[in-house]
Amino acid sequence: MNDQTNKKPEISRKIRPLRKKATKEEKPDQQKPAAVKDKSTKTEAPKKKSPKKPEPEKKVTAQQQGLTRLNKYIAAAGICSRREADELIKKGKVKVNGKIVTEMGVKVVESDKVRVEGHEIKPEEYVYLLLNKPKNTITTTSDERDRDTVMDLVKNATDARVFPVGRLDRNTTGLLILTNDGELANRLMHPSYKVRKVYQVETNDVMTDEQLTQLRNGVELEDGPARAYKIERHPVQKKKFRMSIIEGRNHQVKRMVSAVGSEVTSLKRIVYAGLTDKGLNQGRWRHLTRKEIFELRQLVKLLDKKSLKL
Ligand code: URA
Repeated sequence: MNDQTNKKPEISRKIRPLRKKATKEEKPDQQKPAAVKDKSTKTEAPKKKSPKKPEPEKKVTAQQQGLTRLNKYIAAAGICSRREADELIKKGKVKVNGKIVTEMGVKVVESDKVRVEGHEIKPEEYVYLLLNKPKNTITTTSDERDRDTVMDLVKNATDARVFPVGRLDRNTTGLLILTNDGELANRLMHPSYKVRKVYQVETNDVMTDEQLTQLRNGVELEDGPARAYKIERHPVQKKKFRMSIIEGRNHQVKRMVSAVGSEVTSLKRIVYAGLTDKGLNQGRWRHLTRKEIFELRQLVKLLDKKSLKL
């Protein structure tokens, strides 16, 4: 399932000067038919040295020199497609090392500072994974007690140093994004961007209408008030309901349910920022699509196609 490789370009290969092409007159031997070996006699004609074939040119690609086309570089930052990046360049919205670049085909190296409408574009190729976390895994990058972590589950996904966006409790299952895009991750976790999370909650008893109304109206937790933005009962299973929240405080759902006098027995995150677990079994991960990345960026007001008028 490792569908992304982060191969580093080879950088140093010497460019050989072009050899002058030999004309027919300069290589008469090559025009003669090949000599047929006479097996009846032991005396062999002295072997003629065949002229050395010119070595094929070793071309040094732009990639090997660490060069990337500017439009590719911008697209790799997850903002837009290469074609759209060309539009941004033409409109004079892109600066390389402080200078506006409007020509097509300009190449940049990693150390160049590229800005799109004043925002710096990172040279790193970002990776965005969506994991359906199973039970008994902890949301951390390493565990001193050597328990299973979410990192173990995505270890074949990428070489990039991804980290989980927020956390789910050890026994909570469901959706978790892992990425190396710190800016996007911070915004997704910040309550001001109102990223919606929907949980399927199962409780020890059937919640009363009053309890659910209390959750909607807001409950007082030790770190401040918290409320559910939407609650829907499960149509069949009486102990289950769906609850949407915006913040992502520690053990928030469990604490909210406990504040109204019940106990969570099972918790599953089924929607995160509009992403659902459709087609993603527990324990499995997938890369986010370009469209999903665009939508996340739009949601948290990060440089996106809309703000760039693409
Ligand atoms: N709320 C909780 O109580 N636990 C989680 O894992 C996530 C939200």
